[in-house]
Amino acid sequence: MCGIVAFTGNKDAVPVLLGGLFRLEYRGYDSAGIALQNICAAPANTIPAGDLQAGRAQAAQTQPAHQPQPGGSQAVGHPPLHIIKRVGKVAELRKALEDAHLSGAFYTGIGHTRWATHGAPSEANAHPHCDCSQTIAVVHNGIIENYAQLRQELQGAGHRFVSQTDTEVVAHLIEQEYQVAPGKLMQAVRRTVARLSGSFALAICHSAHPGQLVVTRNDSPLALGTCPDGAIAASDTPALIEHTRQVYYLNDRDLAVLHQNGHIEFFDPAGTPSTPTAVTIEWDLEDAQRGGYADFMLKEISEQPRVIKDTLAGRLDASQGRLLFEELALSHQELAAADRVVIVACGTSYHAGLIGKDLIETWARLPVEVEVSSEFRYRNPLLTPQSLVIAISQSGETADTLEAVKLARRAGAHVIALTNVVGSRITMEANEVILIKAHLEIAVAATKSFLAQVALLTLLAMHLARQRGQACDKQVLDLYRHMQQLPIQISEILANTTSIERCAQECSHAQTALFIGRGVGATTCYEGALKLKEISYLHAEAFAAGEIKHGPIALINPDGLADPAAQTPVIAVACKSATYDKMLANIEEMLARGAKVIALATVGDARISELTPHVIFIPETPECLSPILASVPLQLFARFIAVARGANVDQPRNLAKSVTVE
Ligand code: M6R
Repeated sequence: MCGIVAFTGNKDAVPVLLGGLFRLEYRGYDSAGIALQNICAAPANTIPAGDLQAGRAQAAQTQPAHQPQPGGSQAVGHPPLHIIKRVGKVAELRKALEDAHLSGAFYTGIGHTRWATHGAPSEANAHPHCDCSQTIAVVHNGIIENYAQLRQELQGAGHRFVSQTDTEVVAHLIEQEYQVAPGKLMQAVRRTVARLSGSFALAICHSAHPGQLVVTRNDSPLALGTCPDGAIAASDTPALIEHTRQVYYLNDRDLAVLHQNGHIEFFDPAGTPSTPTAVTIEWDLEDAQRGGYADFMLKEISEQPRVIKDTLAGRLDASQGRLLFEELALSHQELAAADRVVIVACGTSYHAGLIGKDLIETWARLPVEVEVSSEFRYRNPLLTPQSLVIAISQSGETADTLEAVKLARRAGAHVIALTNVVGSRITMEANEVILIKAHLEIAVAATKSFLAQVALLTLLAMHLARQRGQACDKQVLDLYRHMQQLPIQISEILANTTSIERCAQECSHAQTALFIGRGVGATTCYEGALKLKEISYLHAEAFAAGEIKHGPIALINPDGLADPAAQTPVIAVACKSATYDKMLANIEEMLARGAKVIALATVGDARISELTPHVIFIPETPECLSPILASVPLQLFARFIAVARGANVDQPRNLAKSVTVE
């Protein structure tokens, strides 16, 4: 998804903006751009905004020129903004900036990485976008839903458009509002925002307001803060943490004016000054760097022992046989009165929710439904004030999950958010928040956040069971003791990846791969298949093993019986469990039809080695914890295949880290 960085201060803004855009690359994008205020006179060899806006000259010939009103937004006497945009990577933008040989003092600017929604990836559609007089530059994340109507109205008033984007209307609307009250940029933005529907995070600069930036947001993330050399805003914390750990989050449609001396003014949607509270970001810069690993995904997989340790830390009151969830304000009585749990999430977080369902129903004897947020939000789901809704989102910014939370709140349900990001949107929408301890996750493929979600849901399920009188001290202590083994056991898996890599090599040329398992093993498979398809582009599907006879078994290529090269890979999660014998029978069915079965089994299992030579062993753990261990080799399996197929492991095509649009 798109990324925003905005800076004003007492040092060169270019390295700050580019550095921030590089740190946001993981979000996924197709073009990048930057607008700079030159607080000195523009030297002859620099390139003014208009010349760099592809398509603008042509548009000027075909559309009526808008005549700015006297005293309007023309920044008479102010140097023009410098705007450079490129299709492709931020490195291309950096090269373009170098080639432009800009000279002057660029202490204020805005930068953007664009993930195309309205209009193809092109320089004309890349941000920043300008008004007719090119004195206002705007970068935008999100979607302006009423842009078509606004565009028509603005064109009717003579404004010239040069892109196909929804964003460009914002620049022209600000231009129009600025003409009503010249010199009052924040007010012009405020009145503009009042006319926008949809989701947006916006950063705006105006050539007549040197050293000033205006930012605002609605349903789209934006954080800002004062730093030693000025003030900075960004759509995502990795672009900020190098400069400040104390950040502010705006409420919907609130605005902030960032000044060159680091001062920030905050306003509510009515324009009344406000004073939000700063939040401390605990991640450090090291979290945002690869630290010697080949890619972020590998680094994040390797951090999982620490993530589980952090998840467990401080959660047990051993003297009382209780788990500690002090962030939950729900009383004993309220928990006892809960009639059911509804879990909403997307993608990997949804898979964590499926495991949570199994554990909550088994231990707390509470009915649980799990639904993908994009379906839930458009239904009329059964919710009562006694419903406990658990919304899971690593980023805390997934548009569909946020809407599901709002729907649940409107229906009177109590919403608990599980997220990895302090200050994210979901933390503002839910009744209560439990932070998972995954720390910053950069790779698009969720790995350590999944393990943190599952570990936390495991503890939460036992906590609910204990609170509802369904579990005793011993069960709590036993579970915790087994979970304390997980970091060591994950380290053992990470220390010997030979069999995983060998199996991955054998499958890397396959057209399709199937995953089968039972119970929580089936859910582990759903996540394993998602990981494989999203980063390696190898088609993968997961099934409950008992279902294969009802259709999917037809996918096994019978040529595999005679030709090992034609064998369809089937990854079978067959750890020790109540359904282990059934899994062995399913494996035999697959082998009998010519599949190449790669089994994930518990260390010491001799029976499985008699069936297939491709076995990946994991340490022994109770069945309820097996998804935590079994997911690790599946993450590595996906990554090995992606590397073998030459895919970009951290930034898979068409995907973004946080899906902030519907
Ligand atoms: O930030 P969220 O947990 O709400 O994200 C939900 C999905 O977009 C996410 O889990 C996605 O499926 C993963 N990138 C897959 O690895």
